[in-house]
Amino acid sequence: MRRTAIAPGRVNLIGDHTDYAGGLVLPMAIDRQTTVTVDLGAGDTLRLESEDAGDDHEWHRYVDAVVAEVAPGTVGTGTVQTTLPVGAGLSSSAALETAVALAVGFTGPPIELALACQRAEQAASGVPCGIMDQLSIAAAVEGHALRIDCSTNQVTPVPVPDDVEIVVVHSGQARTLAGSAYAERRAQLEAGDPRRVRHVETENQRVVAFSDALAAGDLTAAGRLMVESHASLRDDYEVSTEVLDDLVARLTATDGVFGARLTGAGFGGCVVALATPGALGEGWVVRPAGPARVVSER
Ligand code: GLA
Repeated sequence: MRRTAIAPGRVNLIGDHTDYAGGLVLPMAIDRQTTVTVDLGAGDTLRLESEDAGDDHEWHRYVDAVVAEVAPGTVGTGTVQTTLPVGAGLSSSAALETAVALAVGFTGPPIELALACQRAEQAASGVPCGIMDQLSIAAAVEGHALRIDCSTNQVTPVPVPDDVEIVVVHSGQARTLAGSAYAERRAQLEAGDPRRVRHVETENQRVVAFSDALAAGDLTAAGRLMVESHASLRDDYEVSTEVLDDLVARLTATDGVFGARLTGAGFGGCVVALATPGALGEGWVVRPAGPARVVSER
């Protein structure tokens, strides 16, 4: 039996470092994806190869962790291809996890897929991540971002207007410290550090206001909220870097750009901008994509 599954990456429009606090997030699955093809039933383990990963074999740990979660004992061979930049903050690992899970035969609702892949991510990386990345990929709706209430995992699709571009710009800075600093921030929040708590409380309000602004077509207000979100991540949550701050400032000062902010965990990686079509001559324009799914089986 040969099965192929695909899974998109995601960009978070607003609502970072809120998911593990039971807060609100607004991620969007994007039109860059990972494809996993598995020939089940040959060999003594599951052996996947990738031409896109170079010499980095870290990703095998994610594959093994997913198999252990959803289909222990699976044997076979297969391939992984991706059009997602690895380690850029666009959830290449969550895309890999969900595509592998579906390719080895996971069936079940998106929330169960996301929870299994979140457990695999935590086991493989040692980072106590939240549910946002995996759920935004498992439950994606084409043409929409997803507002997720992480206290209940309830998902509400929010249409993304056609007359605006979402642009992802890589800072050029690798997210090296992301793992240990992430765990540290989470622990500080749980210990009640007032600045960390203030970020989460104000960020939750910004997610609601941003969704409303997007629905009303008020892109100026949406952009302003992104800039405020970045400032809160920089000053109260302290997950930004000078490189990210400079990039956000430069993009925000560009004609036709409504706003920009770091996206995801921070400490490097990508910035997301909201712009008039064609305003930015750099980065990748990303479009809201559909969910992780099986695309062929025979
Ligand atoms: C990473 C984690 C997510 C989320 C973001 C920050 O992407 O995997 O669960 O916490 O950081 O919003």
